[in-house]
Amino acid sequence: MEEPGRKKYEDVPEDLIASGETDDDQIVNLTLRPRKLDEFTGQSNLRESLDIALRAALKRKEPLEHILFSGPPGLGKTSLAHIVANELNTKIVSTSGPAIERAGDLIGILTNLGHGDVLFIDEIHRLSKVVEEFIYPAMENFQIDFLVDKGPYAKTIKFNLKPFTVIGATTRAGLLSSPLRDRFGMHLHLEFYSEEELTKIIKRSSGLLEIVIEDAAAIEIARRSRGTPRVANRLLRRVRDWVEVKADGKITLEAAKKALEKQGIDHIGLTRIDRRFIEIILKSYNGGPVGLNAVASSLNEEVDTIEDVIEPYLLLAGLLRRTSRGRELTDKAFEYMGHTRRLI
Ligand SMILES: Nc1ncnc2c1ncn2[C@@H]1O[C@H](COP(=O)(O)OP(=O)(O)O)[C@@H](O)[C@H]1O
Ligand SMILES: [Mg+2]
Repeated sequence: MEEPGRKKYEDVPEDLIASGETDDDQIVNLTLRPRKLDEFTGQSNLRESLDIALRAALKRKEPLEHILFSGPPGLGKTSLAHIVANELNTKIVSTSGPAIERAGDLIGILTNLGHGDVLFIDEIHRLSKVVEEFIYPAMENFQIDFLVDKGPYAKTIKFNLKPFTVIGATTRAGLLSSPLRDRFGMHLHLEFYSEEELTKIIKRSSGLLEIVIEDAAAIEIARRSRGTPRVANRLLRRVRDWVEVKADGKITLEAAKKALEKQGIDHIGLTRIDRRFIEIILKSYNGGPVGLNAVASSLNEEVDTIEDVIEPYLLLAGLLRRTSRGRELTDKAFEYMGHTRRLI
């Protein structure tokens, strides 16, 4: 029986995929976030490069070079930044592009960094131009310029910082200015995870959260997690809640399927908002090509959310194509929506 006010198929919490880190996530993340590189599943090429860089820095007792992590939300950028600091046994100070409004906001942070500390800047593509320019000399020579006094007596004085490491994270490496990008010694891109990797992550999380889950159920949740560990962990928790209320607390394959269906997550992991996105292009634009802005306004969603969260997975799943004339549905998307042929 459905309690009143309970979310039904039609009003699925869109936050499941669209939102960044929620408060709820933050609490659970303290438990689930991998702390060591060894506990970090998947991304084998990236892990190897990072491992070598970490060992070399430790051996030379020098700070690690600046690192830029890029990739869609929820793939592990923030986790990796913390892992790096943890492996180096240094302090990590976290901030984000939009949080730093003026260059002055950074002075305190920078001057308080110790030798080899990590400064993590999330959403680094959203740094303002002024702040960016202030950061260049800090990243390059560990120096910042202060402007003292005004008018004819104005002069800049240089202030030396202790050598530190900037770790930047971005969902849009393309939006970074090239001077900023060039100041990172390593640029590491995160890819979507395979079903096997996500299954492993789900099993690990189940262990940590003391959830009893069948292998087949873990695989099923992995299949619907859009290649994204954050989504995998969220789905796991939703399914766990469901089995605690509706079943005996153990996650069986059948229970997982039922619970996910209730959440509006279909067999390939698409949610209501994905389906609406596809439907708009199909019904209003004959499958495209159509400009993103037009779809965004019909969908009543931010262009950024569509580009960051919705599209990457639809592209990966082979349902959508980006062309020079706009977004276009593939034949697979037509099939998915129950149309075998193009409508035109
Ligand atoms: N490779 C991984 N192995 C295990 N868990 C992971 C992995 N990558 C991400 N996670 C989980 O997914 C959550 C989201 O990762 P996060 O680092 O916040 O992603 P991002 O910063 O890229 O948005 C983390 O709390 C962590 O529990
Ligand atoms: Mg993050």
